[in-house]
Amino acid sequence: MPPSPLAFQTYQPINFASKLSLFSDQWQPRVIAEMNDYQFKIVRIEGDFIWHSHADTDESFIVLEGELRIDFRDGHVCVNAGEMYVVPKGIEHKPYAHEEVRMLLIEPRGVVNTGDEGGERTATNDLWI
Ligand code: NI
Repeated sequence: MPPSPLAFQTYQPINFASKLSLFSDQWQPRVIAEMNDYQFKIVRIEGDFIWHSHADTDESFIVLEGELRIDFRDGHVCVNAGEMYVVPKGIEHKPYAHEEVRMLLIEPRGVVNTGDEGGERTATNDLWI
């Protein structure tokens, strides 16, 4: 659980690179901040994910380092460092990274990374770093 907002108020910026340096495992997002019901998560990914969709929410991908490809059933988009893309809710997608990508996700609290698919690629939620 995150500290209470008052205890958390330290007047320090949250540095993406510093937070990313604290872990090395891939496909396991870490929460670095919350805004209302939304969480900011950083994650390292490499290789192929599974096809899935999120019935109840859009999903944003903000690439910090590397080049992310998001496959769709009818095309794909390449998102480079300094770029972002929003996948609309209900649209099947499959993230892919040829080499490790480090990115920031902004999602409502409780969103499951594998959407409605479940399975072994499902990450643990609410891991703060
Ligand atoms: Ni997704």
